[in-house]
Amino acid sequence: MKITVVGSGYVGLVSGACLADVGNMVLCLDVDARKVARLQQGEVPIHEPGLDEVIRRNVAAGRLSFTTDAAEAAAFGTVQFIAVGTPPGEDGSADLQYVLAAARQLARHMTEYRVIVDKSTVPVGTADQVRQAVQQELQARGVDIPFSVVSNPEFLKEGAAIEDFMRPDRIVVGCEDETARKLMRELYAPFQRNHDRMVWMDVRSAELTKYAANAMLATRISFMNELANLAERLGADIELVRQGIGSDPRIGYHFLYPGIGYGGSCFPKDVQALQRTAQASGVELAVLAAVEHANEQQKQRLVDKVVQRFGEDLVGRHFALWGLAFKPNTDDMREAPSLTILQGLLQRGATVAVFDPIAMETGRVAMQAAGIALDRVQFAESANAAVAQADALLIATEWKPFRSPDFEWLKQALKTPVIFDGRNLYDPALVRAQGFEYLAMGR
Ligand code: UDX
Repeated sequence: MKITVVGSGYVGLVSGACLADVGNMVLCLDVDARKVARLQQGEVPIHEPGLDEVIRRNVAAGRLSFTTDAAEAAAFGTVQFIAVGTPPGEDGSADLQYVLAAARQLARHMTEYRVIVDKSTVPVGTADQVRQAVQQELQARGVDIPFSVVSNPEFLKEGAAIEDFMRPDRIVVGCEDETARKLMRELYAPFQRNHDRMVWMDVRSAELTKYAANAMLATRISFMNELANLAERLGADIELVRQGIGSDPRIGYHFLYPGIGYGGSCFPKDVQALQRTAQASGVELAVLAAVEHANEQQKQRLVDKVVQRFGEDLVGRHFALWGLAFKPNTDDMREAPSLTILQGLLQRGATVAVFDPIAMETGRVAMQAAGIALDRVQFAESANAAVAQADALLIATEWKPFRSPDFEWLKQALKTPVIFDGRNLYDPALVRAQGFEYLAMGR
């Protein structure tokens, strides 16, 4: 099948590359000429495990190509994905200008029947707006071309996006006509594996499904974080509680890890956008408002612990911070709790040495954007280098290489053997037996 993908960001690239990998011809459209030129050479602008390889393989095979030419892209695919950004507007609602501009662009050059697929995360009702925008453009051109608008939200986790696309739990498609349905079924046939993964529904339900999934997961994490805070006070161990409740299949073990709050490009943005949608419809989402509040508090928890241990005034103190990215296997710094932690330490007068296996450069850029004074941040060469002469070690991201440090060495390297672990990486008994003061989350 011939497929067009508008927007070569995270979602567009992963979708385009994976669809090409199963034999389709895919053309990706982006406004950024430099990015398009690099991609055409097989150079991938984002960090996602395995993506480089899939892109290079398919570019080389002639199945995947990139263009800045909207007319060419519109003439290409029978199925045309819109995968452009939906950044939060000033009030937290999703800004649809890029989605609607993409729809108009496709319509301006439309020559025959097309399925336009909303892949971007968009509020309920967006497909109607896309349909209207396309209709208006066609009318302005004085042509009458049939088209369908479909909602097909993505459920790709950063760091595991290729796997999530290739082996999906479910493929949600909001679709209200038979022609589009047939094409979408054909498109996703290679990804079904041993049973049908398609979940068909009306367009509005599909749009809501995406927000519902992320809001539910964010709620789960926030509630777990609150339970962890309580466990800590009560002298219970949240990790044991987690195993105790996770064994109930209604609860399950997945996505139940307490930490320093959720970050990333999706949860914070989607939780806000869903609240704006609800407000606009006159519905109160009291639970979700609490989730957002709890998450903001949680991002401060590690600094609160530092203050409890070292006092409010941190002038003259120096800390090591392991992990900058909002989660492992990505260099993504969007809404990363590490930024809140850094701010909290620096504001109180401390200096900090940071290390992340891959998010050093994106980390620097994000710190600058957040107005963090870089003169008091040292970008260390390695995890060990960051620790030298530090009053304590803080852990913000559960990267694999942080999981089994040489504790003997670490104890010598730190000025005081204190670890603030925001991700519960270690066995408390073991670390304490090595002579550390170990302050983790909920244990
Ligand atoms: C998420 C959704 O999982 C994905 O389906 C959606 O399409 C996009 O948003 P992503 O943002 O890549 O994906 O990250 P995810 O792995 O879901 O983690 C989100 C945040 O929750 C991270 O900050 C992570 O550290 C935190 N988290 C996750 C926890 O604190 N505890 C957990 O148990 C799981």
